[in-house]
Amino acid sequence: MKLIAMAVVASIALAAAGASSAQETLAKSSGCLNCHAVDTKKLGPAFKDVAAKYKGKAGAEATLVAKVSGGKDHPAVKAGGDDVKSLVKWVLSL
Ligand code: HEC
Repeated sequence: MKLIAMAVVASIALAAAGASSAQETLAKSSGCLNCHAVDTKKLGPAFKDVAAKYKGKAGAEATLVAKVSGGKDHPAVKAGGDDVKSLVKWVLSL
């Protein structure tokens, strides 16, 4: 019984890690990580700081998707609509 519970916990942890690294790969291939890092400030703010700043704010996702893909208040990015959306979701989850 205990073993099964441990296996379940391990597979959930693995699935979670897999999901975040897929987003991280997307962030890398989209060029986001040239200017951003998860934990530290580079040219742009650390993604964890962005998550903290927008925590609990209504409409944060829509605001950031518009900002990042708008190319006006943020440097132009080569990621398309759905990718930006999934990246912003990931950033806000950090
Ligand atoms: C050429 C450098 C550069 C690239 C590439 C870049 N960013 Fe940024 N980003 C910045 C800078 C500089 C800021 C801070 C100024 C600002 O808020 O516009 C920022 C801010 C942000 C913010 C916070 C905005 C806010 O209102 O606090 C988010 C979210 C973000 N970037 C996401 C992304 C994502 C996702 C990508 C990849 C698709 C990306 N960035 C690519 C430079 C970059």
